[in-house]
Amino acid sequence: MTLRSTGGNPALGAFDATDPASLTGAVALITGGASGLGLATGRALVDAGALVVLADLDVERGEAAAKDLGCAFQQCDVTKPENSVAAVEATLARHGRLDLAVLNAGIEGGGPIGDGFDLARYRAVMGVNTDGVAFGMSAALPALVASGGAAVATASLAGLTDTPLIAAFRDAFLERGFPLLEASDVAAAIISAALSRGTGECWVVQPGREPAPYGFRGVPGARMPDGQSASFF
Ligand SMILES: NC(=O)c1ccc[n+]([C@@H]2O[C@H](COP(=O)([O-])OP(=O)(O)OC[C@H]3O[C@@H](n4cnc5c(N)ncnc54)[C@H](O)[C@@H]3O)[C@@H](O)[C@H]2O)c1
Repeated sequence: MTLRSTGGNPALGAFDATDPASLTGAVALITGGASGLGLATGRALVDAGALVVLADLDVERGEAAAKDLGCAFQQCDVTKPENSVAAVEATLARHGRLDLAVLNAGIEGGGPIGDGFDLARYRAVMGVNTDGVAFGMSAALPALVASGGAAVATASLAGLTDTPLIAAFRDAFLERGFPLLEASDVAAAIISAALSRGTGECWVVQPGREPAPYGFRGVPGARMPDGQSASFF
């Protein structure tokens, strides 16, 4: 992800991880914004002075959430590319720019690989959790390039947050003493990641640890005839 200064909005010229006030006037679109992490991120951004559009499949909860936060709601099924395009267009029509896309809509996966593999369930999870991020990124990219903005996508590394997504397993986790994150802590981490100006980073958010970029080992490029390594990236 990347976040750079822009000429368009003086407030964003000072976008700075150490200065939450620099979020004032920033425009954010959040998929899966009606519940859990998306809603908590929307609340944190509104509190920081940002202009927020919540996008979600669930119209009833989304409209109620937007009313509660005093922000906008856009119906959006992230499995449909045209819905992501429409959500970005609605954001631009309302606020004139897009500075932050939080690609967060998701459903719980579950199901085994091998015996008991459920293809329909697999396709449904991939459609929301993976395709939805690609469609959202593709739709938001031109506006983010224009603003010098950022995108953050949520994904699972088995760090668990206390949201409706894990309601079916919550008691079992707590009985075993497994720690759960508060949604507000993840929202703060999402905002930190957006403001970090890092590009292509994966941030780990786990109970008891400070959110931080994960240090992937460098992947070697092709070995060239002269023995040197080469990479296009
Ligand atoms: N809660 C956790 O423990 C946890 C852990 C790791 C990753 N995540 C990821 O964080 C993200 C948010 O999860 P959460 O815990 O807030 O879940 P949640 O169930 O509270 O919220 C998910 C939201 O996504 C919306 N949604 C589902 N399908 C959609 C679609 N096709 N189009 C648009 N919106 C859709 C739902 O209506 C809901 O409002 C998900 O991508 C999830 O995989 C969650």
